[in-house]
Parts: sequence; structure tokens; C-alpha cells
Amino acid sequence: MTLDMDMGRVRRELEGEGFFRWWIYREEVSSTMDLARQHAEAGAPEGLVVIASRQSTGRGRFGRRWQSPVGGLWFSLLLRPPIKPDRSGCIAVLSAVAVAQALRESYALPIKVKWPNDLILHQRKLGGILIELSTGGESIDWLIVGVGLNVNNPLPSRVRVPPISLREALGRDVELEECLIVVLRGLAHHYRGFLREGFEPIRERWQELSVLEDRISFDRGKERFEAQVKGLSESGKLIVEHAGRLEELVAEEVTLVQ
Ligand code: BTN
Repeated sequence: MTLDMDMGRVRRELEGEGFFRWWIYREEVSSTMDLARQHAEAGAPEGLVVIASRQSTGRGRFGRRWQSPVGGLWFSLLLRPPIKPDRSGCIAVLSAVAVAQALRESYALPIKVKWPNDLILHQRKLGGILIELSTGGESIDWLIVGVGLNVNNPLPSRVRVPPISLREALGRDVELEECLIVVLRGLAHHYRGFLREGFEPIRERWQELSVLEDRISFDRGKERFEAQVKGLSESGKLIVEHAGRLEELVAEEVTLVQ
């Protein structure tokens, strides 16, 4: 099966953004994260986009397998944000908000976000975002935003959260090019907004889009905890009250229980 995406059209429509400087598209890769990383380490510029029709070993958070058959949108975007590494959580949150917002506007669907990186529709998982980065002391050398969206693909089996696709939600096939264009435009817009105005506008939008209840359970290591959600910190961490103390949860350490 070939990559049935018209990348010429995608590039033309996004030219005006002046942000996406380099495109790589393949029929199959192990993971777009791997290819993006190789290019990041070789000095590729911010704005590199790596897209694949399918991934043989797509991955999610905590190295979980991410099933990526033809029909879905699987891509990685390289950023080199001029922020301290401990604020990388902001990029995870802004990416989820950007993708949710773009899809809400384009497909009129009530898509929500679940900290730190899930895209939720009708209480099912529409997609997820994976952040990988390399730091050099006080700065970020590269940061890759990996976006996986169930669009027209068969839904994954044996997954923690029941999945949903845009096709299922809309009752029709969705043009992958169109979907990629609106999502990338949204990411560029939110990222630039963040660099210009900081995290506050994104934090406000996150609050409106978040599906988190007041009380949550989360797993850290082998232990399960109950906590009360207090909000999002300036660095994109989830502030909770737990055992009488305020604590900031780091995305890389915890999994929220459904
Ligand atoms: C999650 O929900 O755990 C995050 C899933 C992220 C999947 C995307 S698909 C494109 C990119 N390549 C990968 O191997 N993973 C991300």
C-alpha cells in the first residue's frame, strides 16, 4: 500500500506559516520519533515534520506499544524551544490543547484533553501525544512532539482506554491531508503564542477542555494514590492535594487511572 497522501498539497497550504521547513514522509518507519530524532541529532532545524503511513513499532508513553496501521495520522514535529527543560511539560499541554482545538474547529466535535497528553472524544481515546527531548544542562537541545490520531484506521485492540476514530465519530472518511494541515497549523499557532505570551492563555484553555474530575487516582511505580486536582502549574505539571500536601505530578512518572 502506498502513502496515499498528497504531500505537495500539504506543503503548499502550510507554506504561508513559514514554520515547517523540512518534510520527510515514508510509507513505513519503525517510529516517526526515531527518524525525527536522527535528524534532530544531525542538526535539522525546528519545523521538521516526519510523517508515515504506518509504523511497525510505534510507541506511546512509558514505551507502550502504539498500533499505527494505514489510515491514521502518525507524525513527529521537531522543536527547539528556548525554554528550560523543566518547562517541557508546557509543550506537552500546549500540543494537546492545540490538536484538540484544531479538530474541534474543523470537525465540530467536542474533543477534550486529559492531562498530560490524551485526546478524548465521548470518553474514548481519539489520540495521544508523546514528547521526547534531549537536554544540555539548562537548555533543551531538541524536543520532538509525536502525534498519533485515529482517523480512518481500524481501531487498536487490547488497549487501556477504549479507542475511537474520527471516521467513527463523523460516520464518514476524513481526508488525511486536511486533518494534517489543520493540526499542524494549530500546533504552529499555539507554539508561537506560547513563545510570545507565555503559558497562561494555554493553561486557561486547558482548564476549559480538561476532562479531569476533582478527584483522581494515579499510579506511580507500583503504588496507587488518590488525590484532589488543584490545577496546572506554570510548567505544565498537574497540581494535586494528596495526603494533606500539595504535590506537582510529572507526566513522565505517573499514569492516571480511568
Ligand atoms: C500516548 O498516548 O501514549 C502517546 C502516543 C503517541 C503516538 C505517536 S504516533 C507518531 C509518533 N510516533 C510514535 O512512535 N509515537 C508517536
